[in-house]
Amino acid sequence: MTVTASAPRNQHDAAAPPAAPASGAPAHAGSSTKLELPPLKLGNLTVDVPVVLAPMAGITNKAFRRLCREYGGGLYVAEMVTSRALVERNEKSMRIISHDEDEEVRSVQLYGVDPKTVGAAVRLLVEEDRADHIDLNFGCPVPKVTRKGGGSALPWKTGLFESIIRAATTEAAKGEIPLTIKMRKGVTEDHLTFLDAGRIARDYGVAAVTLHGRTTGQFYSGQADWSAIKELREALPDVPVLGNGDIWTAEDAVRMVRETGVDGVVVGRGCQGRPWLFGDLQAAFDGRDTRFTPTLTEVGETFYRHAELLIDYFGNEEQALRDIRKHVAWYFKGYMVGGELRAAMATVGTLEQLRHLLDQLNPEAGYPGADAEGPRGRAGSPKRPALPDGWLDSRELNAEHQAMIAAAESDVSGG
Ligand SMILES: Cc1cc2nc3c(=O)[nH]c(=O)nc-3n(C[C@H](O)[C@H](O)[C@H](O)COP(=O)(O)O)c2cc1C
Repeated sequence: MTVTASAPRNQHDAAAPPAAPASGAPAHAGSSTKLELPPLKLGNLTVDVPVVLAPMAGITNKAFRRLCREYGGGLYVAEMVTSRALVERNEKSMRIISHDEDEEVRSVQLYGVDPKTVGAAVRLLVEEDRADHIDLNFGCPVPKVTRKGGGSALPWKTGLFESIIRAATTEAAKGEIPLTIKMRKGVTEDHLTFLDAGRIARDYGVAAVTLHGRTTGQFYSGQADWSAIKELREALPDVPVLGNGDIWTAEDAVRMVRETGVDGVVVGRGCQGRPWLFGDLQAAFDGRDTRFTPTLTEVGETFYRHAELLIDYFGNEEQALRDIRKHVAWYFKGYMVGGELRAAMATVGTLEQLRHLLDQLNPEAGYPGADAEGPRGRAGSPKRPALPDGWLDSRELNAEHQAMIAAAESDVSGG
């Protein structure tokens, strides 16, 4: 089977659908040279624009994915779901893995620490035909997870990591579903894991490896290390390598490809409140300089539509409006919106109230330029990684750690 993940529906120069939001004149010149980058091949999938929406818990549900997909081609990954909750068919997990009918590539990300459970989760997705692509999360830096040896702490234990990859690739192969992994550089600069983990995953036939150029200890602070991404690309010439970390603009994406030689880019926080970034990315990869420069009214309408889509997703207006509140600062970053209006949007309770608030936006306000761009979302400062006692002493799992890791999968969300 070949599924082509492309089909942008709301390109800058294409006719916009009726409810479509942002458009505008080019804000700034991009890199006008077309990248000589072939479509991204992930097993039997071909992703025409080698751009991936990074899985983000609480963000990349099907409502947000739809908004993003309308602007550009690429692969749009769902927020992570824990393997155990999925196997137990927890209601929230089933919602997380749901896709719109027109999502040509149904991409799901699994988080798990126990090879059997991860294998069972992949089996469920394959046997019930619920995914066309599966990613495994080994990048979570959240202390509650790493303290028990999960997430980005896990690849340090080579044997356990290998068992999970073996179980997942075996099950995925039965349905010919491409399986990829996403990881960090390691636990700390003195305890790097990305090269070993990348090689193990490659040896088991994963379809691609994504590296977020930070360690667990960096959390989301400082700068992603693109030189590590380049190192991985060079170390694994026989599998697609995708680069992740600190792509805020289409120009950053082009620069990452040029500097590291990656086969594609994975974009997270940069698109929070800016689903049109995927239009910019597609344009840049095609060698076009057009960029979305939405007016305040257009941003407001996209925000409203996001809220409407969330109502469809949650099936509940109250929950959807509670969820949209966290997006306010991202959408309106850099735009002239008074403090009172921002505060009111950040506590909005109904769609009707939201409409009333958006009607108060200044209809004359255009795109503010650089103020609307740049870093957004999680940042913070480096922290000493929270790990089980003695975790870094050996790369083998001892009995005590074995018992503990089973608990690392309970009550986990995101990272
Ligand atoms: C709110 C939030 C939730 C995240 N959830 C996940 C997740 O579910 N799975 C995952 O692999 N990474 C997750 N991440 C990490 C991102 O996928 C990405 O690796 C990270 O943000 C770095 O990329 P960026 O600089 O483009 O944001 C999350 C990040 C954020 C900010």
